[in-house]
Amino acid sequence: RPRVLSGIQPTADSFHFGNYLGALRQWVDLQRDHQPFFFIADLHAITVEQDPTVLRERTLRAAAQLLAMGIDPARSAIFVQSQIPEHAQLGWVLNCLTGFGEARRMTQFKDKSAKQGEGAASVGLFTYPILQAADILLYRPHFVPVGEDQRQHLELTRDLAQRFNSRYKKTFRLPEPYILRSTAKIYDLQLVDKQMSKSLGGSGCIWLLDDPKTTAKRIRSAVTDSGTEIRFDREEKPGISNLLTIHSALSGEPVATLEEQYVGRGYGDLKGDVAELVVSFVTPFRDRTLELLDDQSYLTAVLQKGAETAGAVAEATLRDVYQRVGFVAAH
Ligand code: TYM
Repeated sequence: RPRVLSGIQPTADSFHFGNYLGALRQWVDLQRDHQPFFFIADLHAITVEQDPTVLRERTLRAAAQLLAMGIDPARSAIFVQSQIPEHAQLGWVLNCLTGFGEARRMTQFKDKSAKQGEGAASVGLFTYPILQAADILLYRPHFVPVGEDQRQHLELTRDLAQRFNSRYKKTFRLPEPYILRSTAKIYDLQLVDKQMSKSLGGSGCIWLLDDPKTTAKRIRSAVTDSGTEIRFDREEKPGISNLLTIHSALSGEPVATLEEQYVGRGYGDLKGDVAELVVSFVTPFRDRTLELLDDQSYLTAVLQKGAETAGAVAEATLRDVYQRVGFVAAH
């Protein structure tokens, strides 16, 4: 079975609908006929300052949410990145293979460091995509299900894999990004030209663990566009297009069918229907997550089993890498 791998950062109390529709839903679907590795990227989280207590708590909340969503620990290795030392170890080797200018071209660093000023940003934030390449290449996956914002990191990953393979010996598989066009980028409900994100937060973000009533209210107050017609048009009607995308993803109705169904109806109807669809997803999801959080020993057992599965694969890959690079074996 082809392998899939992906990761998510534990940098908020809850995942949001961008994470869910852009990536996590595909994780759940791909489990069935792939060999999956899914992890919580706590090493990536500390590229910006984190409170240690909060980070630990959010990591467990992340695990609970993955399980509540339908990631099945009997099929998938679910693990915490920092528990597998090979990520940081391969990250170093790849750091030494990456050009400074090449790293500098990564747009996410430009965006994130612009907020704090480049001088204040950590070196970890700068090498973030290279650690991500290590995360991926260690497991030799065929596919990496992510949202559009990760595409550039996947390109770097493939470049580094190719460089290593040609400089030393074929070691890594070139992974394919698995990005669903329809939901690759979910937008904020208020700032309709920005992607919904953990760091943006605000009232335009749909958090999976928010009180469903708050969520419904947020959707009903989503920014819409001038005019009255309900039609998918990213340029002219970004707010409505985003709502149609969310509707379609949850109801399974193609956007064209929805456009027909809403002929002659108002924006309020669309928002009400989206709110209803979202609420009927988040209500049981939230209950299940909270239930799982009550049983921390189960969660840590799942993560331990995941780390054992992942660790065996990571160790074997790193051994090959160290040997090929010219390191003397320890034993
Ligand atoms: P993170 O934690 O920011 O997001 C997790 C996943 O959610 C996707 N996503 C979105 N998709 C559509 N619309 C949105 N508004 C939206 N917001 C987030 C992201 O594309 C991602 O797939 N660097 C990664 C974590 C990571 C990783 C990896 C991923 C570390 N190592 C190795 C894959 C493979 C990140 O910060 O994702």
